[in-house]
Amino acid sequence: MVTADEPLPGRLREALQAAGYRYDAVTGLLGPVAHAALSRNETTPGLRATAGGSPLETLVRLWLLQAPVARDAAARALPGLVGPLGAAGLLEVSGGEARALLDVRPYADEERDWWLVSDLTPGLDGAPVRVSTDHVLGVSSASTSLAQLTVREPVATAFDLGTGCGVQALHLSCHATRVVASDVNERALAMTRLNAALNGVDVEVRAGSLFEPVAGERLDLVVTNPPFVVSPGDQGAAERLVYRDSGLPGDEVLRRVVTGAPAHLAPGGRCQVLANWVHERGRPWQERVGGWLEPPTGSGRRGSGCDAWVVQREVADPAEYVELWLKDAGVHGRPDYAQRYDAWLAWFEARGVEAIGMGWVHLRRVDREPVVHLEEWPWQVERPLGEEVADRGRRTDLLAALDDEALLGTRLVARVDVRQESTGEPGAADPETIVLRQQRGMRRARAVDTVEAGLVGACDGELSVGAILDALASLLDRSAGTLRREKVAVVRDLVADGFLTS
Ligand SMILES: C[S@@+](CC[C@H](N)C(=O)[O-])C[C@H]1O[C@@H](n2cnc3c(N)ncnc32)[C@H](O)[C@@H]1O
Repeated sequence: MVTADEPLPGRLREALQAAGYRYDAVTGLLGPVAHAALSRNETTPGLRATAGGSPLETLVRLWLLQAPVARDAAARALPGLVGPLGAAGLLEVSGGEARALLDVRPYADEERDWWLVSDLTPGLDGAPVRVSTDHVLGVSSASTSLAQLTVREPVATAFDLGTGCGVQALHLSCHATRVVASDVNERALAMTRLNAALNGVDVEVRAGSLFEPVAGERLDLVVTNPPFVVSPGDQGAAERLVYRDSGLPGDEVLRRVVTGAPAHLAPGGRCQVLANWVHERGRPWQERVGGWLEPPTGSGRRGSGCDAWVVQREVADPAEYVELWLKDAGVHGRPDYAQRYDAWLAWFEARGVEAIGMGWVHLRRVDREPVVHLEEWPWQVERPLGEEVADRGRRTDLLAALDDEALLGTRLVARVDVRQESTGEPGAADPETIVLRQQRGMRRARAVDTVEAGLVGACDGELSVGAILDALASLLDRSAGTLRREKVAVVRDLVADGFLTS
């Protein structure tokens, strides 16, 4: 494979730039139909949209559509590079044609454009999915989910644990002075080095498992999309797909990540994880995952020292989970499909696994009593969400610093994106239900009563929460003391969830 220390990455970057091989140009060329078809792994509409022979069309056919292109066309799109890219293992050139051996594609977020080299997307146009055990994924929906969750505040040192082709490391390079990326897969490390060089960014690439490569170091930000598939973890070397199988049973990889991270976080440092976890029969998932985040009372152990916010976004039943991952591995339809399906289900059953939760874990090192919060939020959220993750941390700090009396004495402001929805009989004097709904961030909705709606409406930073509650008590002919006592916990929730801010 091409290595980063030869001039090839720089020459390739110039050629891609000259051909206009950028995310917006490629989606514009394909158009919405062919682009959507390609996201379903269908190339025919894309081939129809790229028949003109321009360098951009040639590169799209070569890499995104995995079609052979005439050697002459490849030479026009990649001047002087067809031979070197062939020698470096990115292209195969034979019989007057060039075809891709690795994927090279443009990738972008709201502000930047990059190119990413990874293994070819398997299974285009219904071809059998065949992936090697050391397959290096390109950008997946999990990659973009994690990238969009990541807090993008400037930091000194960021660590991308399980970097794959280096997609998170590229994002981190925009706001971290120093980026360390690790993997256990040598091919992934080579691709990350190549992608760093291709995009002209510095990434320290290190081999090793979990936190081994950063032993003894304190980090400001850890992001990881670990190999989180919940399975027996007993695949032999010939069957283990390292991009998704940790080789550990169940959700042990997540336990190791979240219990290992705190020791590596600098003060204020964060760890953001995309993960799957087990729902054990007869035990709330919050108890199991929460148990890794804070030691049981009286255990004598020191706490993690980290605030934790866990959000379960989806839950799969065991059968749909097993189907999903057997199909991902290309096992569907193979003679051993049913036997492997059955064995995986039997393993779940024996361990009392009744469902698998999927979501995010955020940790943040604090110098006070940690706050651990686990919740289910399956609804759509704003993307990117990093600012809200950071804001939630600031709100948690605020609440931790205020006892109830001090909270009632604080002037708060309703977030500008909060809207009120009232429903009821046409013409009725009072609404039957009032819902406060955020337009941004987690896009939370919360049913409130008239006092709570009035409180949020009056929070404009002029009066303290207590003074507003007193005014509402007098307006509604209620006892001010009772209202303060009743509503202070609600105010805490409204701040924690971002309806009210300082
Ligand atoms: C799901 S991929 C994530 C790739 C990339 N970070 C992303 O966000 O798309 C998981 C990565 O973790 C790597 N990996 C597997 N086991 C690991 C371990 N024990 N320690 C570190 N990385 C590991 C895999 O090789 C793979 O590159």
